[in-house]
Amino acid sequence: MSLPPARRRPATALALCVAALALTVPAAAAPEPVAASATAALPYQDASLPVPDRVTDLLSRMTLDDKLGQMTQIEKDSLVPQSDLAAYRIGSVLSGGDSTVSPNNAQTWADTYDSLQRTALTTPLGIPVIYGIDAVHGHNAVRGATLFPHDIGLGATRDPALVQRVGRAVAEEVSGTGIDWDFAPCLCVARDDRWGRTYESYGETPELPTAMTTFITGLQGETLGAGPASVLATAKHYVGDGGTAGGVDQGDTRVSEAELRAVHLPPFKEAVRRGVGAVMLSYSSWNGVRSHANRYLVTDVLKGELGFTGFVVSDWAAVDQLDGQSGFTGTEITTAVNAGVDMVMVPHDYKKFLTLLRGEVTAGRITQSRIDDANRRVLTKKFQLGLFERPLTDRSYTSTVGSAAHRELARQAVRESQVLLKNDGGILPLARSARLFVAGKSADDIGNQSGGWTVGWQGRSGPVTDGTTVLQGIRAAVTDPSRVTYDRYGNGIDSGYSAAVAVVGETPYAEGRGDRPNGLGLDQEDLQTLARLKASGVPVVVILVSGRPLDIAGELPGWKALLAAWLPGTEGAGVSDVLFGTRAPTGKLPVSWPKSAAQEPVNDGDGKDPLFPYGYGLTYAGTDPTPTPTPTPTPAPTPGACTARFRTASAWQGGYQAEITVENTGSAPLTGWSVDWDLAGSTVSSLWNGSLTTAQGHATVRNAAFNGSLIPGATTTFGFTANGSAGTPVPHCAGS
Ligand code: BGC
Ligand code: BGC
Repeated sequence: MSLPPARRRPATALALCVAALALTVPAAAAPEPVAASATAALPYQDASLPVPDRVTDLLSRMTLDDKLGQMTQIEKDSLVPQSDLAAYRIGSVLSGGDSTVSPNNAQTWADTYDSLQRTALTTPLGIPVIYGIDAVHGHNAVRGATLFPHDIGLGATRDPALVQRVGRAVAEEVSGTGIDWDFAPCLCVARDDRWGRTYESYGETPELPTAMTTFITGLQGETLGAGPASVLATAKHYVGDGGTAGGVDQGDTRVSEAELRAVHLPPFKEAVRRGVGAVMLSYSSWNGVRSHANRYLVTDVLKGELGFTGFVVSDWAAVDQLDGQSGFTGTEITTAVNAGVDMVMVPHDYKKFLTLLRGEVTAGRITQSRIDDANRRVLTKKFQLGLFERPLTDRSYTSTVGSAAHRELARQAVRESQVLLKNDGGILPLARSARLFVAGKSADDIGNQSGGWTVGWQGRSGPVTDGTTVLQGIRAAVTDPSRVTYDRYGNGIDSGYSAAVAVVGETPYAEGRGDRPNGLGLDQEDLQTLARLKASGVPVVVILVSGRPLDIAGELPGWKALLAAWLPGTEGAGVSDVLFGTRAPTGKLPVSWPKSAAQEPVNDGDGKDPLFPYGYGLTYAGTDPTPTPTPTPTPAPTPGACTARFRTASAWQGGYQAEITVENTGSAPLTGWSVDWDLAGSTVSSLWNGSLTTAQGHATVRNAAFNGSLIPGATTTFGFTANGSAGTPVPHCAGS
């Protein structure tokens, strides 16, 4: 037999011997694929046919077991023996946060992928598996990969084009290990910083994650599979994961439908518009109903109203959580599949899962057409990705893992993500010739600066991967490294230094383990280090390495400068680029910075008075000519300028649904707006994302508190359904 070709090389038809065997689970050892003639034997193998035709042909040849397998995703390490992949017709494999290979390098990951894929191809129909992983800030499971700032830092850059380039770099590194699918981006809108996943959010307003959906285009390319190294993206976690009461991970988001649509839905809408291939559901609930059981949100809103044609994947063991007991039941599976889940991240007990799923189908509780719809969605993505033509790793990308070009891009992202919050007396930028004392637990710790999801689910402190620590970046930037003294605890400092640089903050965590309901303060070690530095009388510059704003209001008066570095990843030199003024600081807060944890939740437009507002960020001139934003005089703001555009989303006999998009056309933030238009005799039956009054055939919609404020150029949309016909309204917008 000849081996299947590597992915993304020129396509040759992969013609496998096809025997339409009806198998029941578990199957006998499946036959080896046999390479037949150079031309495609069957329509689904013919890459020149349109994808929908190939899917239809393939579906017509699949047994029920083949179809159930396509809806099944399992953890690589729970696959024992490997031949089960073919025997059970498993459609997808993932690596969870702690799944690894040994030795952990790109080559072994690629070999592991190819080995699994070769096994999958031994089934009669030779349907390739699709392999997914959490490459959430770079290809973070792989030691030696380039790690970019976590999403909160990318949000601070306010640079969607940069984020698209980051997505492209991640796609190349992921492709170099064979992997087809990334469980990113998280489009969570983090509304309460006590939530342990705040750092996975681009920011607290719907606009910021919406703008950063460029990451999806970076991963997939403009059209999935059309270009090289195209990786399927996942918009997660649908929907409302960042809005849970108290910031509790996997908690309950208690908001009206209008608020859910206004705050949490917009990034998903934009992701769908960009053609995102997959959507992962959220563990969280909306007003007590779990997303994985919410047919209205998944089938009606996501697939219907938003027109999502990709597939919906459940979160890790989330279907099994539906009844609150561990262990799958048929009822849980039926609830999830009928809500609209197309692929279940099982992830362990695939035998039990498949037996139960089969039972639900044969009992008629899940229809054949639901199974076919799920398969059509999954298979369409496999065809579009080119998996049938090029199932194996394209090794030409393997050397991009941790490449100099990607690290340079990451360093750019780091410097653009730095947010300068305080700079008394212009102590920053530091002189390169200054005598410096560097301290703090995160000054020389690649694990701390990378955070969670770094070579392991929770991440950990220490030299977990290759990169440049903040201290190494500082030493590389100064004129004479012997003038830089480092002591983690701040011991040995005396008054002879120009500045003390304290790199303090959070140690790594992921998901629920990062929830901090009891406060967001600095730990004892940091407080003691800071106290030692301060006692020396040397001006203290704090670099905060953290996944979110911390409760620092009490200590801030004792610091001369504060730079929020977020979780920069492996390229610590990006921090020193800003510290020494090679580049001007340009980052803006992606979240409101609370006065204390007790002020949470605190968000833009909610009328609270944070320590630093959303969008805050100071600057100074950089020595590098490229981005020097100061001292550009800001033009006098023109408050309240806005426009409104009307669009009929759908119309039917006797009614219609419409959307009105409000744009801030002024040069100052728009905090209040109202839109009015002539209803042309129609009557509004429901309206979301605004508050409505009608008088004399005119509708007036005003912003609600949760709309927040719109930065210049930003848009927000409200929608409504109405009885009658829309006519040709010309809405008028007035701002305040
Ligand atoms: C896995 C993660 C997963 C988590 C869920 C961990 O063991 O490695 O991928 O997200 O469990 O609880
Ligand atoms: C997380 C997801 C992740 C999945 C797989 C879950 O615990 O919530 O974000 O994609 O595990 O690792």
